[in-house]
Parts: sequence; C-alpha cells; structure tokens
Amino acid sequence: MDILELLKGRRTYRRFEQKKISKEIREEILEAARIANCGANRQSLRYLVIEKPEVVHKICELVKWAAFLPTEQGTPKENEQPVMFIAVLQDTTVPGYSDTDAGLAIGNMTLAAWAKGVGSCIMGAIDRPKLLELFDTSEQFALHTMVAFGYPTHKSTIVPVQDGDKKYYLDENRDYCVPKLAKEDIVTYF
Ligand SMILES: Cc1cc2nc3c(=O)[nH]c(=O)nc-3n(C[C@H](O)[C@H](O)[C@H](O)COP(=O)(O)O)c2cc1C
Repeated sequence: MDILELLKGRRTYRRFEQKKISKEIREEILEAARIANCGANRQSLRYLVIEKPEVVHKICELVKWAAFLPTEQGTPKENEQPVMFIAVLQDTTVPGYSDTDAGLAIGNMTLAAWAKGVGSCIMGAIDRPKLLELFDTSEQFALHTMVAFGYPTHKSTIVPVQDGDKKYYLDENRDYCVPKLAKEDIVTYF
C-alpha cells in the first residue's frame, strides 16, 4: 500500500474486537521496535508485552482514554478493550536515553501493526507508579508509554480543522473524526 494511505489509516483506535493478535503479527510489531532509529545507536528501550486478558483489564483501569471525550464515549467498555498492551520502558542507566528514541520506536510499532490491520492507541496519560508496581520491574527502568493494540471496531478519519478547533470527536456512527491542520498552516518554504 502507498505509504501515505497507510499513514492516513494509522490513526488512534480506542474500541477493539476481542480477537487475539497472532504471534507472527506480534513479533513483527516488536521487530519494528527493535530496528528503530535511535540516537548514537544507544538502544535504551525495553518492552513488556501484556496479552493475558486479566492483566489487560487491570491495565485499562490505570490508563486514561480520550481526554477530549466524555468517559462514556471515549473509554472502551469491557468487551471493547484492547487485546494487547506493550509497555515501553527506558533504561535510565543508559546515558542520553531519549524521548525521541521512544517516539520513533512507538511510531514503527504502530505502523507495523496497522500494515496488518491492527489498530493502536499510544497512551501517555497513565498511572506510572501503579503500572510499575504491577510490572515489578527493576528501578532502573522508567515507564515511558503504554501502547494498546487490537483490531478496531470503528473508523477514524482525518478532517479539516474548523475555527481552530483541534478536538477530535465522534460522528453519528461513533467513528472518530480527527481534525488536522492544513499543510499551509504548518509549513514555511524558507
Ligand atoms: C504522546 C502521545 C500520548 C497520548 N496519550 C493518550 C492517552 O493517554 N490516552 C488516549 O486515549 N490517547 C492518547 N494519545 C492519542 C492521541 O489522543 C491521538 O494521537 C490524537 O488525538 C490524534 O489522533 P490520531 O492519532 O488519530 O492522529 C496519545 C498520543 C500520543 C502521540
């Protein structure tokens, strides 16, 4: 598929089928993280894969969904929750560990997932202390981000920004509409 078509579809998804992601696709997502660009090739990121339904449900209580939407619209119900989370950990003992590295690895993972029809939600509004307690990792690791994965049950479409309002919203079919600024609003040819 054309890369821009893939990137347009690779939106945030927050409601999912209760269908497992195959081992092959899961490993491809992790491979995409492994080979991501990173500053000075430091490779300070580590990953925790969570697929056990009872742990996924517990994690769902420790993350915040869709800040722009009322809870009943933005938070997946129990039968809409993701089927996998990947926790992105930074090894803080690696000098120069960087948020850019994490962003690049996350971007690779979500794109590799979407190439196989698996949607994702990158999550920064998370209860880091409680999640780290749950994962029981060594103190040298900081929890950067949780990424939720699953086969989406809704669509998500890019729409133009109207009157400067960048808040995403649901349409009458409960599909996401995500306003993005026009290229002329964000690019200067210098
Ligand atoms: C760094 C980062 C943190 C995010 N944190 C959350 C979050 O905690 N909860 C959530 O529901 N969505 C979260 N998102 C998803 C954004 O809300 C979403 O990317 C944005 O609304 C644009 O939608 P799009 O991804 O479809 O372009 C996050 C995205 C990024 C990149």
